[in-house]
Formats: sequence, structure tokens, C-alpha cells
Amino acid sequence: MTGPRFTPLVNSLPATVPFVGPEALERARGRPFAARLGANESLFGPPPVAVEAMAKAAAELWQYGDPESWDLRAELANIHAVGMENIVMGSGIDGLLGSLVRLCVAPGDAVVTSLGGYPTLNYHVAGYGGVIHTVPFRGDHEDCDALIAKAAEVEAKLVYLANPDNPMGTWHDAAKVQAMIEAVPDGTLLILDEAYLEFAPQGTAPAVNPDDPRVIRMRTFSKAYGMAGARIGYALGAAPVIAEFAKVRNHFGVSRASQAGALAALGATAWLAETKAKVAAGRDRLAGIARANQMTAIRSATNFVTMDCGKDGEFARAVLAALADLDIFVRMPFVAPGDRCIRVSAGPEREMALFEAALPQALKTAHTKA
Ligand SMILES: Cc1ncc(COP(=O)(O)O)c(C=O)c1O
Repeated sequence: MTGPRFTPLVNSLPATVPFVGPEALERARGRPFAARLGANESLFGPPPVAVEAMAKAAAELWQYGDPESWDLRAELANIHAVGMENIVMGSGIDGLLGSLVRLCVAPGDAVVTSLGGYPTLNYHVAGYGGVIHTVPFRGDHEDCDALIAKAAEVEAKLVYLANPDNPMGTWHDAAKVQAMIEAVPDGTLLILDEAYLEFAPQGTAPAVNPDDPRVIRMRTFSKAYGMAGARIGYALGAAPVIAEFAKVRNHFGVSRASQAGALAALGATAWLAETKAKVAAGRDRLAGIARANQMTAIRSATNFVTMDCGKDGEFARAVLAALADLDIFVRMPFVAPGDRCIRVSAGPEREMALFEAALPQALKTAHTKA
């Protein structure tokens, strides 16, 4: 028997698991975490109107979702002052990145990103046989100039910038990002991942220009709107670029309940303002906890705070493991020099207090091991 015959490309790929979820960790530990602060989720949850809309839609889930997400795209077009043809919905930014890579990347094609940046793009690129080229972070920021220079050097099909960034939480202002857009080499598309934009200061995002084919922006309901488990996000770009998604996307990949929840969430403007204020307060709280433990909190424009443990990756990994032993789930950047840090989600006081109580003990344990 030959069995299934996978493509040579798939056979050549390592059996990587890009994200080991907290559930898998809990199964391995045999007990739940007391605080879930590691998956860049919003502990403040979705707006109540979205929960209500999703609960109502649950009874209608025998129906497929509208594959065109018409009502939702119409509302988003209105909000961004663009046409509906400038917007495509997907199952989160992660899903949209997969479709975009499928559209652009053939075996051997070059894609540029930051070393140690958000890794999902790399995973998709590997799956289509593309070649990832990286440039290092500079001073804990993604390096816009180096990304563009590398894209030109390797004739990249795609170049990726997350602004604000994960895992460091840092950001560039709109003028810097616009300058990057202006410098995109001919034949390259800039993916501007704005998953955390709602948490960033005014003046972080350049104006949306729906006629500019050099950049595609990615937005999500996973972060500020607290709907990570609903898997819904969108790409915003020039109509001819967006139209290509129809050729490859998973047309029923956004559930009816997610569409209804997202539409309701867009109306929750007062709730969003309150949530942003709570996240900002949570970041301050985490920065205070870091200071009290002789650690440095890197200034963040996201809903997490990346804290410099002041030593190397081995030490930060020991802190992470000790926190897990104390039932606190956090994560850390994978790659040096970012891996001197741990990354903690801002959340309600209950979770902040649990982290505050566990951190000194975790640091002590890590020091004894170092
Ligand atoms: C920079 C960045 N982009 C995208 C995502 C994933 O977004 P989504 O849930 O919409 O797939 C994350 C999640 O952590 C992220 O950090």
C-alpha cells in the first residue's frame, strides 16, 4: 500500500507546531492556569452587544454565513470611507495572511519580515515553498528602513510590518510608516498588520488610501473587540488586490455568528473607549509591577507589556517556567535579543494581582537556577 501521497513540498517541511496553545499546556500539566496572560487575547472580552448578537445567531447556525459578509463590509466601508470592493473578510488576520501568501508566493519566491516578529506569515510562506528573509529588530522596534532595503535586495514579493508590533509592543508613527509605503520597491506588496492599532496613540496609522496598490492593511476583531475565538478580521487595500482573494479564499470561513458579533461590535463605540482606557490602565499596572521587581517594561502600544528580565534568554525562559509552575500563563519572544523578555497581557485586577503575587517568587526560582 502506498497510502496518501503528499506533495514533495509538504514532505520536505518540518512537523512544526507554530503555536502550542494554553489548552495543550494545561493538558500536559494536568491542571488549569489561574491567569491566562500569554496569548495576546483581550481579557476584557467582547462588547455585551456582540455577545448578544452572537448568542442570537447561534440558533441560526444551521445556515452558512453570507460568503460576501455584505452587511459587515458595508459598515466597515462606511467607517473607513472606502468602497466595499476595498475590503475582504477572513478568519482572522492569520487566515487572510494564508490567502495572501497563496496569491503571491510560488516556490522560491522571497518574503521579508523581522527576525523574531509575529511568526504566522513565515509559517504560510513555508507552506507555499517561499523563502523567508529577515532583518533584525533595532532597539526593540521593527526596522522599517532595513525591511525595505532587504525587500529591494531580494526582490521580495511581500514585506511584512506589524505596527504596533508583537512581540515587543513597540510602534512607529504614521509618518514613518507612510515613508515606508512610499519606498516599497516596484513589484513588492507591503503587508501592514495593524492588529493592535486600537490600543496605539493617535497618529500611529497613516491615512487609508484605497487606491494605493503598494500596501494591504490587516485588521482584526481579535484584540480590542475581544473576539479572538470568533476568528474574524479583514484586509483593506486597493480594489484590484482585494479582488484576487475571491480566487482562493475560504468563502464560508467566517461564521454567521462571527459576522453578526463583529457588526454589533462596530456600534459599541463607548464600550471601545472604556476598554481602551482599561487596557491602558492595565499596561500601567504591569509597568509598575515590572519596576517593583527591578525589571524594565518596554513602552507598549498594544494590550500586552513586554518586560525585560535584565538577563539572557535562558533566564527569561526560567522565569516563564516558574510562572507556569505558579499557574500563571505568559509567553516570551522567541529570538534574541527579544528573548531576554517576557510578554504579559494587560487584564482586569484579578489577573494583575495574581501576576503581581507570583512574579517575585518566579524571579527567585529563576535566579537559583541561573
Ligand atoms: C501582530 C499580530 N497579527 C495578527 C495576529 C492574529 O490575529 P487574528 O486573531 O486576527 O488572526 C496576532 C495575534 O497575536 C498578532 O499579534
